[in-house]
Amino acid sequence: MSNVFEKCNEYGHEQILFVNKPEVGLKAIIAIHSTALGPSLGGCRVRMYESEEAALEDVVRLSEGMTYKNSIAGLDNGGGKACIIADPHLEVGREALFKEFGKAVSSLNGGYITAEDMGTNPSDMLYVKEHTDFVSGLPLDLGGSGDPSPWTAIGVFNSIRAACKVRYGDEDLSKRSVSLQGVGHVGIYLIEHLTKAGAKVIVTDTHQDALNKAKEKYGVEVVGLDEIYDADVDIFCPCAIGQIVNTQTLQRLKCDIICGAANNQLSDSSIYKEIEEKNILYCPDFVVNSGGVINCAAQFKDGGYDESWTARKVEDIYDTTLQVLEESKLRGKFTEITAFELAKERIQKARESA
Ligand SMILES: NC(=O)c1ccc[n+]([C@@H]2O[C@H](COP(=O)([O-])OP(=O)(O)OC[C@H]3O[C@@H](n4cnc5c(N)ncnc54)[C@H](O)[C@@H]3O)[C@@H](O)[C@H]2O)c1
Repeated sequence: MSNVFEKCNEYGHEQILFVNKPEVGLKAIIAIHSTALGPSLGGCRVRMYESEEAALEDVVRLSEGMTYKNSIAGLDNGGGKACIIADPHLEVGREALFKEFGKAVSSLNGGYITAEDMGTNPSDMLYVKEHTDFVSGLPLDLGGSGDPSPWTAIGVFNSIRAACKVRYGDEDLSKRSVSLQGVGHVGIYLIEHLTKAGAKVIVTDTHQDALNKAKEKYGVEVVGLDEIYDADVDIFCPCAIGQIVNTQTLQRLKCDIICGAANNQLSDSSIYKEIEEKNILYCPDFVVNSGGVINCAAQFKDGGYDESWTARKVEDIYDTTLQVLEESKLRGKFTEITAFELAKERIQKARESA
């Protein structure tokens, strides 16, 4: 790890905290990418990384991503992220681990607000809460902001409406068909919004139970895991895993729009050109799926959590998506590039007026 400062310079981080508490087995890295817009906000991931370098790489990359996600969502928050190098299924000593992590978050005096992420759960965050108030996404009855997934789903729904407006000139979803990959926490709420709006929805998932429930309750069509890429639909909506828009799947997709909740949907930036050549309108994932983090940020408003504030901000995802798609045309740049530019421009303005 001789190149930590080099990495900070490469990604533009303000601070990286290494937490080492061998007595409880805690090895954590908290990366604060930017506080130009306000306290950094982003989840804590627990993972058995193959190396400490891999953990550092992950946390610096993800915290930078949170800077742009929070910025484009119009939040007064910068980007941060934490990772704990441990087995996510750890049972013995879990309480002590997260309490100690809470102390580390507390030591940053509000510069970093943590939250649940891959490998963590609400109970972990309750242990964190014992040592710091800078933890979001806790249950509503404990002064938190509750489950973010319903808000993420509304945000995705709003982005889909905006994309239809741009692509078809109207946002009437009763004329549209959607293939949705992943009927999980976000997917199931999204199916409800889509079917209520009259859209024809085709779904797939690795869990048969989830599919059965969705079919029974909403009358959606179920297809196989691989068949989803061949569905003849207007909109492909990834709500499961990352990097599923790649050269192989893109050849098969017949949609006009890609718009979903999953993080890091594109294999890498080399796919931009292929998406444009197929005349597919790609809605950048970090714009589309910001409903959850908006709801987390709502917990830290003056006067405490305010659901109506979340609702207004999540409604704004419609306008933000429109802005990104229209600016992308004006700038002659791919939608994701435009979204990054808009996010960076807001941060730059904040820096200039500071
Ligand atoms: N929950 C949120 O508020 C939120 C916020 C922002 C981004 N996201 C992202 O959205 C996505 C969905 O989040 P979630 O909370 O609903 O997760 P989840 O784990 O509840 O749901 C994911 C679903 O996808 C299914 N799945 C996994 N692999 C699959 C595959 N190969 N093909 C089809 N289905 C598959 C799982 O069985 C599960 O039902 C994730 O990428 C997540 O990072 C979620």
